[in-house]
Amino acid sequence: MEQFDALIKKDGSGRLTIVEIPFNAKEVFHKPKGTVYVSGTINGIEYRSKLLSRGNGKFVMVLDKAMQKSIGFHGQEMTANITMSSEDLESVAGKSDKITDVKCGLDAFTAIKTRQSIRKFTAKPVSQDMVSAILYAGMCAPTAKDKRPYHFIVIRDRCVLSILARYNSNAAMLEHSAGAITVCGDKNREGIKEFLYADCAAAAQNILLCIHGLGLGGVWCGVVPNSDWRKLLIEQLALPNKLEPISVIAFGWPDEEKELCPRWETAKVHYDKW
Ligand SMILES: Cc1cc2nc3c(=O)[nH]c(=O)nc-3n(C[C@H](O)[C@H](O)[C@H](O)COP(=O)(O)O)c2cc1C
Repeated sequence: MEQFDALIKKDGSGRLTIVEIPFNAKEVFHKPKGTVYVSGTINGIEYRSKLLSRGNGKFVMVLDKAMQKSIGFHGQEMTANITMSSEDLESVAGKSDKITDVKCGLDAFTAIKTRQSIRKFTAKPVSQDMVSAILYAGMCAPTAKDKRPYHFIVIRDRCVLSILARYNSNAAMLEHSAGAITVCGDKNREGIKEFLYADCAAAAQNILLCIHGLGLGGVWCGVVPNSDWRKLLIEQLALPNKLEPISVIAFGWPDEEKELCPRWETAKVHYDKW
């Protein structure tokens, strides 16, 4: 882990708030290729992010609005104490032993009864182990003929989350969520449209229940067929033609408490005949 003091400031364009990394991150973190993902603390506040290369071994980290608020940055340059480690997201995500380490505190029926849509989130990041557990929950859902036609696109890029939030008022919470999981259905794998949606919906509900069971909050954002937002999603996530985005699930540490409402409706229950 690296520890250093760095200046937090606006970049040249005045649009981004950045930290200049005082070392060559690719060398120090032994990541000659690809994006360098990092996590650590800024003045004791936890973050997860990725580094942007500015060429010649120089890197910056962009701070989103939630992080700026948490550390008390109001536009004036300030010095902060930063700890930073690199994260190998792909290798952690592939390790199922890590997934089984993650414990859910609720029994299934309690989780089902107490889950609610959460649309306000704190700036606290969600660990990769938790994200992997949530994805695993999605993969445990039943699917027609066990075709498992789903793909999950985990969105952690703050710029993408921001763009998606800006162009759909029903998904505005993405601006502050720790991340989002887009559940997509592979049309080549499941040709019956209704089954494709049913399979992905089952996966989405498992994901929401796991999010809740872990003490996190989440909400399902619908993708309206033929909408501009669906087009934007396809473009931002570079989805191939065969993948239909079916839901976007925002998740993070909850920053709201809601009263549970009673759900039982006798009129919806029918025995043997309508
Ligand atoms: C297909 C579907 C689409 C949804 N779309 C949105 C959405 O775009 N934005 C949102 O905030 N919530 C959305 N929701 C969440 C519902 O508003 C929420 O589940 C409902 O109001 C019941 O509240 P609860 O989840 O707290 O039980 C969606 C839920 C489903 C199942």
